[in-house]
Amino acid sequence: MKLQAKIALVTGAAGGIGSATARCFAREGAFVVLADIDREGCHRVLDQIVRDGGKGSCSVLDLTSEEAVVELFSGIRRDWGRLDILVNIAGGDCDPAAPVEGMDMERAMKNLDMNLKSCMLCCREAAKIMKPQAYGKIVNMSSLVYRGSPNQFSYSASKGGIYAFTRSIALALGPFGITANALAPALVEVDAFIRALGEGRWNALAKATAERYPLGRIATPDDVANAALFFASDDASFITGQILEISGGARL
Ligand SMILES: NC(=O)c1ccc[n+]([C@@H]2O[C@H](COP(=O)([O-])OP(=O)(O)OC[C@H]3O[C@@H](n4cnc5c(N)ncnc54)[C@H](O)[C@@H]3O)[C@@H](O)[C@H]2O)c1
Repeated sequence: MKLQAKIALVTGAAGGIGSATARCFAREGAFVVLADIDREGCHRVLDQIVRDGGKGSCSVLDLTSEEAVVELFSGIRRDWGRLDILVNIAGGDCDPAAPVEGMDMERAMKNLDMNLKSCMLCCREAAKIMKPQAYGKIVNMSSLVYRGSPNQFSYSASKGGIYAFTRSIALALGPFGITANALAPALVEVDAFIRALGEGRWNALAKATAERYPLGRIATPDDVANAALFFASDDASFITGQILEISGGARL
């Protein structure tokens, strides 16, 4: 097992990619703290983990709230006295597909808060625990659109920001035995998309997208979870400040 006895915090753990990552880490021996705003979803994932013989706990909070994030980490410090792994997955796009001149600033700022601010807050609080223990693995969720997108402006800005922020903390925290890397998936099949688009539109989008990717399919949440596992494990102990595109070769 690659994460035996590690304490791992996974945000967005009720969602498609977050739940796959939390389950994967638990299978690899970690105690997983599942953090999400979705209480029911979080508990559902924890139940699955426990049924499969894994260990974890749920923290239900809004990760854009500084106060709530500070409280989350003080709970981890109190309960465990350490944190080995932080995976920031919570996020999404609430401002898609508008022309640039129609950008809604309220939704754009929400995207920055949901994706970038939540990640920065969690990294800040994690650094306070990881620096004194001289060990830590931070994995942040970017997206392939960090390279730019013709219709996702604030979302791509937030994901590009996450990459720049990840490189910066990699520089600052490397001397303390902490690595920080980012994941950049292309399209991943998650229930949230199917719910939002309906099955017919989702199937058409997934098929058309898969045809454009050299590997001929879109990603599964497990594809992303496996990449998160690599960065979170000691297999990646000399890798920091990197972004890994999980894209089936979508943009080469
Ligand atoms: N699905 C894709 O195609 C894809 C591609 C690239 C990147 N990503 C990124 O992967 C991450 C996970 O996305 P997903 O596809 O699993 O979507 P998802 O909607 O299934 O999961 C997102 C999770 O984040 C949680 N969340 C959102 N805002 C929160 C907040 N303020 N506080 C606490 N929890 C909050 C949601 O409740 C949800 O459980 C996101 O950051 C997304 O931008 C997804």
